[in-house]
Amino acid sequence: MHQICVIGSGYVGLVSGACFAELGNRVVCLDTDIERVASLQEGKLPFFETGLEDLVRRNTAAERLSFTSEYAEGVGGAEFLFLCLPTPPSPNGAADTSILRSALETLAPLLCEPYPVIVVKSTAPVGTCASLQRLLEKLDPALAHVAIVSNPEFLREGSAIADFLNPDRVVLGAEVLSAADAVRALYDPLDAPVLTTDSATSEMIKYASNAFLATKISFVNEVADICERVGADISLVADGMGLDRRIGKSFLRPGVGYGGSCFPKDTQALAHLGAMHGADPKLLRAVMDVNTHQFKRVLHKLRAELGSLDGATVAVWGLAYKPDTDDVREAPAIEIIRLLEQEGAHVRAHDPVAMLKAAPKLPATTMCRDPYDAAAGADAVLLLTEWKEFKSIDLDRVAALMHAPLLIDGRNVFNAAAAHDAGFVYVGVGRPRMGPHRREAHVLARRG
Ligand SMILES: NC(=O)c1ccc[n+]([C@@H]2O[C@H](COP(=O)([O-])OP(=O)(O)OC[C@H]3O[C@@H](n4cnc5c(N)ncnc54)[C@H](O)[C@@H]3O)[C@@H](O)[C@H]2O)c1
Repeated sequence: MHQICVIGSGYVGLVSGACFAELGNRVVCLDTDIERVASLQEGKLPFFETGLEDLVRRNTAAERLSFTSEYAEGVGGAEFLFLCLPTPPSPNGAADTSILRSALETLAPLLCEPYPVIVVKSTAPVGTCASLQRLLEKLDPALAHVAIVSNPEFLREGSAIADFLNPDRVVLGAEVLSAADAVRALYDPLDAPVLTTDSATSEMIKYASNAFLATKISFVNEVADICERVGADISLVADGMGLDRRIGKSFLRPGVGYGGSCFPKDTQALAHLGAMHGADPKLLRAVMDVNTHQFKRVLHKLRAELGSLDGATVAVWGLAYKPDTDDVREAPAIEIIRLLEQEGAHVRAHDPVAMLKAAPKLPATTMCRDPYDAAAGADAVLLLTEWKEFKSIDLDRVAALMHAPLLIDGRNVFNAAAAHDAGFVYVGVGRPRMGPHRREAHVLARRG
C-alpha cells in the first residue's frame, strides 16, 4: 500500500485517485474548488462517468480514499504527488502550464524528506517536466533532487475506469530511472506494457497520440465528403479499409468533427510547439481546418434542404462531445448550435445527461425533456451525439410530430432506408441522401 496525493480532482484526477485506491493504495484527492471537495466528501460527483460513483463510495467507505482542499493535508506524508491539473490553450494555441507551476509553488514549501516523487499526469508540452524541475530548484535549492516523472494519461471519458485499469500501455518519462521504477510499481497490478523514456519523449508520446487520432478523424471526414459527392458509402469504405491490419478499424467513423477537452487543444498545442521550433506542421493545420469545416458542413446540408435557416426550428439530439459523458467542453454540438442561432434558427435540444452543463453556454436554446419533445414542430432533426438512447427512437412517432420530416444524421446512427420508410428525408455523413428533393416541400410547409 502506498500513500498517494492526487492534485486536481477533475476527470483525470478523480478517476486516477479512485482507481489507485481500488488497487489498495491510500489516496487523498486534493482540489482548490472547495464546493467540489465538499460534495465529494458527501459522495456526490461533479460530473457523470459510468461506474465512478460506486468506485468512489466503496473506496471512501473502506477509508482508502479521502478528499481535501488543503495542500498541507494532502501533501504531508505522501510518497507520490500526481499532478492532474488543467493545461488549457493560451490565445496563441500553446498549452498554458501556469496552473502546474503555481501548484508546484504551493506545494514546494510543504516538501520534506523522504521526498515524494512528483508525477505529471496532465497533458503538458515537451519540456514541462524539465522546467518544473528547474522551478523546484529555484524555489529551494534543497529540492534539486526531488524527482519529477512524466506519466501521461490516455483514458477516455465515458470508459475512463476501464481504460485506467486496462491501459494499452503505461508511459513513464524520467531522468532518474529509480523514480520511474517507483511509479512503475504502482501500475504493477495492471499487468500492462510499460514504456520508460526520458521526460521529453514521454511528453511527446501523449501529444503525438492525440494528434494522430484527430488526424484519423479528419481523414475519414474528408473521405466521407468525397463519398457524398461521388455516390460511395463511407461506412462500407471504412469497413473495407479497417480490415487491412495496417490500418485497423478504430477511429474510422465519420461524424460532425472531433471535440472535447483534449483533441482540439492538444493538436493545436503540438502545431504551436512545432512552429516555435522552426517546423512547418502543415498536416496538423489541415487536420484542424478540416475539423472546423466539418461543423459548417452540417449547416450547408440544412441549407440545401431548407433554404434560409432564418426562422427555422431545428431539433438537436445530443450536446455532449461524445456519448456516456456530460462533458460539453469544445463539443461540436455547442459550436453548431451557436452557428445555427447566428443564422436565425431556433434550437430545441435534448441530451440524456449534458443539458445542465450545456445550458449556461446556450442561453437562447430551449432544453427539452426528451427527443420527441425536441422534435415537436421542428423543421429538421439534427443528431450530433450517438447516445445509445437515440438508436432506439421511434422514428414513425418523430415523423408524425414534424411538418416535413428531415433527419440530418451527423453520426450515421440510423438505417437510412428505415428512416426513409418512416417518412424522413435522410441525410447522413458520407452516404447517399435518401428521399425526394424536398426543399420546396419544406419551404412550403414552413410558410403554410
Ligand atoms: N479529460 C480527459 O479525458 C483527459 C484525458 C487525458 C488527459 N487529460 C489531461 O489531464 C489534465 C486534467 O484534465 P481534466 O479533464 O481532468 O481537467 P478538469 O478540468 O476536469 O479538472 C481539473 C481540476 O483541477 C482543479 N484545480 C485547478 N487548479 C488547481 C490547483 N492549483 N490545485 C488543485 N486543484 C486545482 C480544478 O478545480 C479541477 O477540479 C489536462 O492536462 C488534460 O489535458 C484529460
